[in-house]
Amino acid sequence: MDTNSNSVKDTGILLIGHGSRLPYGKQVISEIADKYRNTTNINVEVGFMELAEPNIPTAFNKLAKTGVNKIIVTPVFLAHGVHTKRDIPTILGLEALEIEKPEHEHNHEHHHHHHHHDETEEKIEFDGEIIYTEPLGADDKIVEIVDERISEHL
Ligand code: NI
Repeated sequence: MDTNSNSVKDTGILLIGHGSRLPYGKQVISEIADKYRNTTNINVEVGFMELAEPNIPTAFNKLAKTGVNKIIVTPVFLAHGVHTKRDIPTILGLEALEIEKPEHEHNHEHHHHHHHHDETEEKIEFDGEIIYTEPLGADDKIVEIVDERISEHL
């Protein structure tokens, strides 16, 4: 997919998963990363928001140490949420994204308990450019997957 050798050498890619105590999420993200690696010569790392290792700073700094001057970060989340809008940008040293509806408005209906990584423990160390992309979103390819899951039972 990438034919520009300068871009390959100067760029790193970080895929971010949510993380879980159970192994399934990590397996899926790792498989997605492996499949993506087969499409590119760019160095691809995986980091997790919480509950799984490596955490985001560890994975990010591993890429940074390869000498790249640009790191593209993609949250492998279906939709935006507090993690993608606030937590991940903050960890990356970026400005938090605007959240349309404050989370505390529905705190009582869905209290999301988290055991977050201690963000003060490890900081990202990078002088280059960080590009933080959108999550997966309501892409037609996602619709195709939904259709595939359903179609085999019709
Ligand atoms: Ni969470």
